[in-house]
Amino acid sequence: MRLLALESSCDESAAAVLDDRRGLLAHALFSQVDLHRAYGGVVPELASRDHVQRLLPLVQTAMDEAGTVPADLDGIAYTAGPGLIGALLTGAALARSLATAWGLPTIGIHHLEGHLLAPLLEPDPPTFPHVALLVSGGHTMLIEARGIGDYRLLGETRDDAAGEAFDKSAKLLGLPYPGGPHLARLAERGRAGVHEFPRPMLDRPGLEFSFSGLKTAVLHAVRALPAEAGDAERADIARALEEAVVDTLVAKAMRALEETGLDALVVSGGVGANLRLRGTLHAAARRRGARVYHPRLEFCTDNAAMIAVAGLARLAAGERDGPGIRARARWPLDSLRPPTTARSDPS
Ligand code: KG4
Ligand code: ZN
Repeated sequence: MRLLALESSCDESAAAVLDDRRGLLAHALFSQVDLHRAYGGVVPELASRDHVQRLLPLVQTAMDEAGTVPADLDGIAYTAGPGLIGALLTGAALARSLATAWGLPTIGIHHLEGHLLAPLLEPDPPTFPHVALLVSGGHTMLIEARGIGDYRLLGETRDDAAGEAFDKSAKLLGLPYPGGPHLARLAERGRAGVHEFPRPMLDRPGLEFSFSGLKTAVLHAVRALPAEAGDAERADIARALEEAVVDTLVAKAMRALEETGLDALVVSGGVGANLRLRGTLHAAARRRGARVYHPRLEFCTDNAAMIAVAGLARLAAGERDGPGIRARARWPLDSLRPPTTARSDPS
């Protein structure tokens, strides 16, 4: 079985071709960061307009790279939510139109299920059940993944996501949008122990997070800098912020392994590309005899290959979209069900 997948939920336009026997044949991506940089964040209307321009050429590139013609395909998967509704509709409408023209079934995929299943593209994939730490720009969740489509939410953030903590702090430090990777690079040059930021919610039981207080700590530290302070001083603040976020995520992830009795941890989502987070999680898991799995770096952030993995699992089981076009700005992850032979209703 071979399918084409599209991703357009936020500010990345992407297309991929995945084959159940030959693996990932191609993936193509265009990031809109330059388009949104001047505004310091994603402008939904600009995102939709740009997806409309980019998606079709990306489909062509991925199909060419995969040596695939429409007749080779068995279906099309696309991100149906959650995300920016206009952006989602561009991918959904294109997927449904191509599928109608080519006589193929489609399947609308939950973006976070894509992130959760991205490590299945790696040569040594995780098995189920496992604990997943999903850390992106919009979400911070611990999930017990019992199987594809069988996700129990163990805990999530009460306010800002981990990616937001990085992005908002980066803005306060004067770094360009999106700040996470820039802050991580600056933090490499920072000294440990110059600033001590709080580890939110660690003193309480449970698996919830709260990151909104950290940006206030960063704001105070930035304001307290002497006028002559430069990159070295800002790097110390970046280092302290990164350590506070990473320590909190790692402690709660270990607590989730403890509480579920599981010994496998998947880390996915954009913040999963953070090298301090990866290193610290590996070390902590090793001490408990547990293993950490993650997607390759380029598949931590948004991409279509991960949508293809989820799409293949569902289309292969016989699941298909109903007749309408599916796109949902909000879509709770734990409302998903394992792949079925049923038709999913458009909403
Ligand atoms: O998963 P993703 O591409 O988009 C969402 O679905 O949100 O995640 C983007 C987030 C942004 O907040 C970005 O700053 C953050 O992931 N991010 C990082 C790193 N790379 C991306 N945060 C910290 N360190 C990184 N290396
Ligand atoms: Zn994402």
